[in-house]
Amino acid sequence: MPSQPAKPAILISRLLPKPAVDLARSRAEIDAYAVDGAMPRAELLARLAGKRGLICVISEVIDQALLDACPDLRVVSNVAVGFNNVDVAACTRRGVVVTNTPDVLTDTTADFAWALLMATARRVVEADRYLREGRFNQWEYMTLLGGDVHGKTLGVVGFGRIGRAVARRAQGFGMRVLYQDAVAADAATERELHATRADLATLLRESDFVTLHTPLIPETRHLINAQSLRTMKKTAFLINAARGPVVDEAALVQALQEGSIAGAGLDVFEEEPKVHPGLIGLPTVVLAPHIASASSETRLKMANLAVENCLAVLEGKTPPTPVNPEVLARR
Ligand code: GLV
Repeated sequence: MPSQPAKPAILISRLLPKPAVDLARSRAEIDAYAVDGAMPRAELLARLAGKRGLICVISEVIDQALLDACPDLRVVSNVAVGFNNVDVAACTRRGVVVTNTPDVLTDTTADFAWALLMATARRVVEADRYLREGRFNQWEYMTLLGGDVHGKTLGVVGFGRIGRAVARRAQGFGMRVLYQDAVAADAATERELHATRADLATLLRESDFVTLHTPLIPETRHLINAQSLRTMKKTAFLINAARGPVVDEAALVQALQEGSIAGAGLDVFEEEPKVHPGLIGLPTVVLAPHIASASSETRLKMANLAVENCLAVLEGKTPPTPVNPEVLARR
């Protein structure tokens, strides 16, 4: 009987939904971490030895040292749309394919940016705390007054898939949309989303809500800094469901403490899982532990896509969503 080709060996470095792990097991030898937390680096390197595929999340740092320690590695499949945790250039040099999970999380992430926006403007978390603390003793006219959302100006920084999905939701609130991006959207998209391209300073000056949807690249690190925060309206809110280091967190704390902006809704932080202590005590800030894509449906779709990407590379096929397709062209 002809012998079956050996199944490729893959490490899944994080607890993922079972159907996705089962899909991986049906076509590969799987070593899966059973913990919903970061695998210690030494263990990651040890378990990755001899593996050809890695399915990982954004808290794993995929750098030159890891690639040197794991010469059999052929694919790094990141279960996220952002891939700033991966040294893509080093992977490309070494012929390692990198993949991510775009599209499947666009709407879920946009929904959550809106959840932060609404919660921040209308003080939902403060209101919940107020009630639980037993302070709702009588109806008060002047208590927990927030800012209106409808009819205001939304400034979208980064007008890719997620930024546009956030802008689409603003249509229902009758908002004016400004966007900043290195690339202009086509006229039909601008018309459909009632969106006008602006430079960053204009967007910051005119927006009531500034929402960040850029990838973290050298050009966007601390894009929002002390000076940009000073440019924003005193009544404006900053929403960040992109990457923490896009905002200078210390400058943000100072701006909030001084009241030079009205509030912030943050899903991401400069040094996750650390959060600047100055943010914790501020009632004008809504904080979440990086959960914008965390719906059951979307986390399953992301895991399935990551598994499909990894298997495709190891089976000599084209993965659905490669980050460095030039490596595939070299095979
Ligand atoms: C999450 O942060 C992602 O990039 O998907």
